[in-house]
Amino acid sequence: MTFEESLSNIEKQAEQFVWWSPSQIARGEDLINDPTKGQRAWAIPRATGEFLHEQVLILKPKSILELGTSLGYSTVWLSHAAAEIGAHVFTIEHMENKFELAKENIKNTGFEKYVTPYLGTIMDVLNNSDLLKQNLKFDFVFMDADRGHYHEYFPLLEPHLAENATIIADNAGNMGSRMQPFFELLKEKGWTFEILDMDNGILLARKNRLD
Ligand SMILES: C[S@@+](CC[C@H](N)C(=O)[O-])C[C@H]1O[C@@H](n2cnc3c(N)ncnc32)[C@H](O)[C@@H]1O
Repeated sequence: MTFEESLSNIEKQAEQFVWWSPSQIARGEDLINDPTKGQRAWAIPRATGEFLHEQVLILKPKSILELGTSLGYSTVWLSHAAAEIGAHVFTIEHMENKFELAKENIKNTGFEKYVTPYLGTIMDVLNNSDLLKQNLKFDFVFMDADRGHYHEYFPLLEPHLAENATIIADNAGNMGSRMQPFFELLKEKGWTFEILDMDNGILLARKNRLD
């Protein structure tokens, strides 16, 4: 598949992908099977994907960490850039059905050797997998998962971030209130950041000054 074909394949998959939360299952809503009531598989908008790709090419990180793989749309953008500069993408997803589709989608692009996917909750993977035990320094982190918990992940990640690390997070505009504790923590730690007014509002944070 070409890169463009893979992207549109994932976009179609995302439109069709419906899942039911544990509380919906407890209420029997999954049995009614009305897709309009189900949960969707969200992906970043295309322009955000292009932005991620561009930032990787500009910043030339070696190790990229993504929180929230879903079906792999953003991973495909990141790994496309990683393949161009010889970087590697590590990505975490806790829903097994999404994880399996994402692996297939990444394989379809031919970029799978640039990606190591982890199945599990972010907390569990950070604490218990080999991810943070490999002496890697992440110089680029893309956060697109459970926004109200980034401030809990940051202290675990901090010792594993490179001096010039960049953190990008989606939904810093439309869901910024949930990320407030994370913004406060970044300020406390002396990080410089701005929220770019594009798509859902993109957090661009740097350990050193944004110039
Ligand atoms: C907005 S979607 C990610 C979209 C993806 N980055 C893309 O653009 O294609 C968020 C994903 O994070 C996953 N997620 C949420 N909280 C998580 C957690 N604590 N641990 C692991 N995955 C989580 C969800 O299952 C979901 O697939």
